[in-house]
Amino acid sequence: MAGASGRVVRRWYPHVLRSFLQVPALQLHVSKTAMRASQKDFESALSQVKLLKDPGNEVKLKLYALYKQATEGPCNTPKPGVFDLINKAKWDAWNALGSLPKETARQNYVDLVSGLSSSSDSSSQVKPEADRKQRGYETLVVTSEDSITKIMMNRPAKKNAITTQMYNEIMLALKAASKDDSAITVLTGNGDYYSSGNDLSNFTDIPPEGIEEKAKSSAILLRDFVDCFIDFPKPLIAAVNGPAVGISVTILGLFDTVYASSRATFHTPFSHLGQSPEGCSSYTFPKIMGPAKAAEMLIFGKKLTAAEACAQGLVSEVFPDSTFQKEVWTRLKAYSKLPPNAMRISKQVIRNREKEKLHAINAEESRVLQERWLSDECTNAVMNFLTRKAKL
Ligand code: COA
Repeated sequence: MAGASGRVVRRWYPHVLRSFLQVPALQLHVSKTAMRASQKDFESALSQVKLLKDPGNEVKLKLYALYKQATEGPCNTPKPGVFDLINKAKWDAWNALGSLPKETARQNYVDLVSGLSSSSDSSSQVKPEADRKQRGYETLVVTSEDSITKIMMNRPAKKNAITTQMYNEIMLALKAASKDDSAITVLTGNGDYYSSGNDLSNFTDIPPEGIEEKAKSSAILLRDFVDCFIDFPKPLIAAVNGPAVGISVTILGLFDTVYASSRATFHTPFSHLGQSPEGCSSYTFPKIMGPAKAAEMLIFGKKLTAAEACAQGLVSEVFPDSTFQKEVWTRLKAYSKLPPNAMRISKQVIRNREKEKLHAINAEESRVLQERWLSDECTNAVMNFLTRKAKL
């Protein structure tokens, strides 16, 4: 009896002792299928059953009873004592099969396993993606799994350039992630780029009220966008999968950890575009890398390799491009298992005293940019890009 019971039950052992104490009344359903299952079918069902997810106590008892009936015939052992709850439940299940012929029990066992396999196959095919992917985003793919909310910019054909819609969707996704039950949140990009920064065609969408109004609303959008990063309460990680440009670089100073592929580059060509720094980079970059290095990036538009960005403290760690995804997600899955409240509180302790200052810096940078966007230098640079006279 022990050998056979081990066969069916051992795989679910951690749950078995506890849950067998609450076994519901058995309603054994016995198939009326013709007795055709061969010994080979039966053996293959025995192997298959080991691969199934835990089907619950009631089904496990049915499997046990059918196995015993198929291999030993009608129940022939003494009834266990009333306090031997587990063995009594098993004995009851087997005994309930009465004089069911061995062949029928074998067939019923094969049928039951086959039904369990197909329902577990279909659920594993359909469920994960549908469950994980959050609906309602057009420019992002937002998923939650393993206590990680992943926000992936998803305009690969446009190098994940950030349109007005994408700014708004990232804000929405961050707000949702701040309240969901994930422990950490990750921003990354789909395709070969992390992001090429502000979508320069945003500048062409001028409302009837005129260009000043456009500059004003864009400055408000920018300020609100950056505020979301300043206020984000959980550990925020950037997985920089490829080149990063403009605002996708400047806000990195507001992330808690930045992982980069060896293929990533970091470029803030504000002067080339007649613009000025945002994302609190006028404060975070000099603090992270020192004023001289920050000036090279923010004033002269020096493009950093991933290794340089790591050496200067903007990036936490660089991974070879070929193993980037695997290594980063393995690392993040391990981090996501740490106690979430402790991580959140540690972040607060590290960041909170700077928050007010960062909000003020953000407001000031946005105000300056509002003016810059109305300058001839900026208008000409954007027109040059849009008419394809200029590329970075
Ligand atoms: N704004 C608007 N469109 C952008 C964009 C941006 N920031 N970045 C890329 N795109 C578009 C391109 O216009 C192109 O669109 P198309 O296929 O309709 O012509 C598409 O994305 C692919 O870009 P492409 O320029 O063909 O790829 P590339 O590999 O040759 O160059 C970049 C990539 C990022 C170097 C180049 O697109 C570029 O310089 N973009 C502008 C970056 C920028 O100035 N950002 C603002 C910083 S503040």
